[in-house]
Amino acid sequence: MCGIVGYVGSRDAAPILVDGLRRLEYRGYDSAGVAVLGDDGLQIVRCEGKLSGLEGCLATKPLKGTTGIGHTRWATHGRPSEQNAHPHNYQGVAVVHNGIIENHLQLKQLLRAGGHSFSSETDTEIFAHLIASELADVTRSKGLEKNTTGNGLLAEAVRRALRKVRGTYALAVLREEDPSELVIAKNASPIVLGRAEGAWLVASDVPALLPYTRDIIFLEEEELATVRADHVELESFDGIPIERAPTRVDWSPVMAEKNGHKHFMHKEIHEQPRAIADTLRGRASVETGDVHLEDVGLDEQSARSISRIVVVACGTSWHAGLVGKTAIEQLARLPVEVDLASEFRYRQPVIDESTLVIPISQSGETADTLAALREARRLGAGSLAIVNVVGSAIAREADHVLYTHAGPEIGVASTKCFTTQLTALILIAIRLGRLRGTLDSGQARAHLENLSKVPGHVEEILGREEDLRSIAVSVSSSPNFLFLGRGSSFPIALEGALKLKEISYIHAEGYAAGEMKHGPIALIEDGLPVVIIATRHGTYEKALGNLEEVRARGGRVIAVATSEDNDIGSLADDVIWVPDGGSLVDPILAVVPLQLLSYHVADYNGTDVDQPRNLAKSVTVE
Ligand code: G6P
Repeated sequence: MCGIVGYVGSRDAAPILVDGLRRLEYRGYDSAGVAVLGDDGLQIVRCEGKLSGLEGCLATKPLKGTTGIGHTRWATHGRPSEQNAHPHNYQGVAVVHNGIIENHLQLKQLLRAGGHSFSSETDTEIFAHLIASELADVTRSKGLEKNTTGNGLLAEAVRRALRKVRGTYALAVLREEDPSELVIAKNASPIVLGRAEGAWLVASDVPALLPYTRDIIFLEEEELATVRADHVELESFDGIPIERAPTRVDWSPVMAEKNGHKHFMHKEIHEQPRAIADTLRGRASVETGDVHLEDVGLDEQSARSISRIVVVACGTSWHAGLVGKTAIEQLARLPVEVDLASEFRYRQPVIDESTLVIPISQSGETADTLAALREARRLGAGSLAIVNVVGSAIAREADHVLYTHAGPEIGVASTKCFTTQLTALILIAIRLGRLRGTLDSGQARAHLENLSKVPGHVEEILGREEDLRSIAVSVSSSPNFLFLGRGSSFPIALEGALKLKEISYIHAEGYAAGEMKHGPIALIEDGLPVVIIATRHGTYEKALGNLEEVRARGGRVIAVATSEDNDIGSLADDVIWVPDGGSLVDPILAVVPLQLLSYHVADYNGTDVDQPRNLAKSVTVE
């Protein structure tokens, strides 16, 4: 999730680009850069760190020119550094990109074989090489001079290059020979155009454009645009021209930053289909049943040498670990222990060389998780971290890293990072199962097929938000909640309770449903909201039993159940339906309604959803 800006007009581009990037910094902030075309040709300035660093560089080296592109980066391939910052340039073609090139390894190999060498670790640089090569080919095949301008040459080169790329991208490209135009393209990552006085602007989100215009063209999937100061030409990837007039947006700047959502948390809940798809991208093949995690050290030899796995994490990431335990034990028949990082580091854990430690962390900076990783490594364990922030401390110190591609998470309560952590853990479970011979290819294919449908299923659940909002409003004044689940739904009950506590300050407990009789049943009284996760798989019948017990004592039952389950409809006070996704992915589907439930309770009660009291997004002290 990076931020892209572009400008073609009559004013100096650099200050406008930097101003736009400042408004997009919430999309990523580990490095930034701009490329400007002017009398001095193509000039590029890039800087590691926050945008203020780039501003400092530009103050000492102002760029002159009225066409340019800029980028604020959220690393997905290659650590944050000046070298990996965008724009990337090859033979006068400069590119900024938001997204992931799925077939980057193959493309890099092919280009290397053709004599190309790369100056960064990014996948993005591939675009610059591909487009520059296609541009040379197109120009040559049309018998034109290298410095010919216009003629739709750049658009054609971009179109041809994109045919070779699999993945997601919002792309802005400029070419040294022709300062009069930019080309942009979209596939799955957002990009918009804005019409201003004597100029057109480009951005990955509307807020960057609001000081200049409210007349916006939203690019749709597989569309490309050639952008000039006085007009834009829109076309499909097949080269078919598209007519689209700008839409007038009346969002406030704050609304625009949240893409029209009231809170970042709400936006992030809704980003889950995309985040999960990005985490799967390039790693899972439904056709063959293979999971490609060779690059994170999970090969045949290592899979066989592991005798046990220890997960260390805090908060929501710890809940992800608990779900991962069930998946790994079931598919790979390896014992998994899940420890709170703050406990692990002080309890003289039993660890040896055959232990694989998996630290899980959104931020990659949580002090306890980092300390637990260090302790495990000191004792000789191998390590594979699941992290969202590229280049973070845990990512740097672990032997291997599997990145969740959720993009920056700004709401303190973790949502999209949790579901992408679950996705990553299921991939690890399938991979280990295949390597250890405990899962055959048919079973792996079935699991991967279920996993590939998760983004669509989550979309469907998000479509029922209004029902969830009504339920939330009806229970919003309750001072206590109970969340119950069994098997892999138990950690989801813990997570549901944590979400509610964090953002609404309502007391909530998550319990293993089978433990209800050993204490929590004493809490049940008339009207106490009890959320029971009773999806069809696993211990469904037992969950129904618990549901009856709660009902008999006057509790108000809110059930999360598999669609078309008519039995439960007549037993619960409210039912939240989720699609039947298969047992392995059930936890991902079950947690989404709980996130929305907590969100709407908190929003209705008027608490500070994105920055709840006393909490911090990243806990870097013990
Ligand atoms: C804080 C956050 C939680 C998060 C936990 C672990 O408490 O508020 O949302 O789950 O830290 O953070 P990590 O970045 O290690 O996943």
